[in-house]
Amino acid sequence: MLRIRASKMLAAPVMKIEILTIFPEFFTQVFEFGIIRRAKLASIVKINVHDVREFAFDKHKMTDDRPFGGGDGMVMKPEPIFAAIEQLLGTTNRDEYPKATRVVMLSPQGTPLTQEIANSLAKNADHLVLICGRYEGVDERVNDALVTDEISIGDYVLSGGEPAAVVLTDAVVRLLPDALGSETSAENDSFSNGLLDCPHYTRPADFRGMQVPEVLLNGNHAEIEKWRFEKALEKTQKNRPDLLKGENGGCE
Ligand code: ADE
Repeated sequence: MLRIRASKMLAAPVMKIEILTIFPEFFTQVFEFGIIRRAKLASIVKINVHDVREFAFDKHKMTDDRPFGGGDGMVMKPEPIFAAIEQLLGTTNRDEYPKATRVVMLSPQGTPLTQEIANSLAKNADHLVLICGRYEGVDERVNDALVTDEISIGDYVLSGGEPAAVVLTDAVVRLLPDALGSETSAENDSFSNGLLDCPHYTRPADFRGMQVPEVLLNGNHAEIEKWRFEKALEKTQKNRPDLLKGENGGCE
């Protein structure tokens, strides 16, 4: 059941997220589920999606063009993105952005997204503008003049920044105060203590002959905590040994 306090429904959102894209329909349903939907309904976050094409002023509403110097593919033009930022933030001078405003370019050339970056955005930003690149890229003057953070969601190339904007939005919104509700917390998430999360089980205790570990059934909380820590360590060792060596901000 969805219970939202009246005071929350009237308050200004904790965070505003604006997404600039040439495929606004991509986002029609994606924020209508689970924690993000609940956060929107509780006015914890407000998400607006803007069609970059509407900021193109030529008669063909062009948002891309051929690259200077030749080469394959098309490059997103700077003018519509500058016009969108001008309208949203009242300036295209990065030094004039309010302190808690961040303009993020989603691109494979960005800094890899980590839990630490998501935490920092959730804690320090109240206005995120996410630019979804397409084609071969975005005219670099957008990065030079407007962007405060260039972020990648991993070492692989997507056909556009839209899925990355969804990933970043999800990772940040669930960390906003009250977004997870009282029954859950981000404290035990993977990465929050430098380790992956431990395994979890629910009923039935015996499923097709596969038993839930005995220790979880005996109610001894000290033993359960110890088991969870050991299993988290084991899983991290197996799947992400780099975290244990402190290579990715993990514990040493
Ligand atoms: N756009 C294309 N590939 C991307 C990636 N890996 N991360 C963020 N944005 C992207």
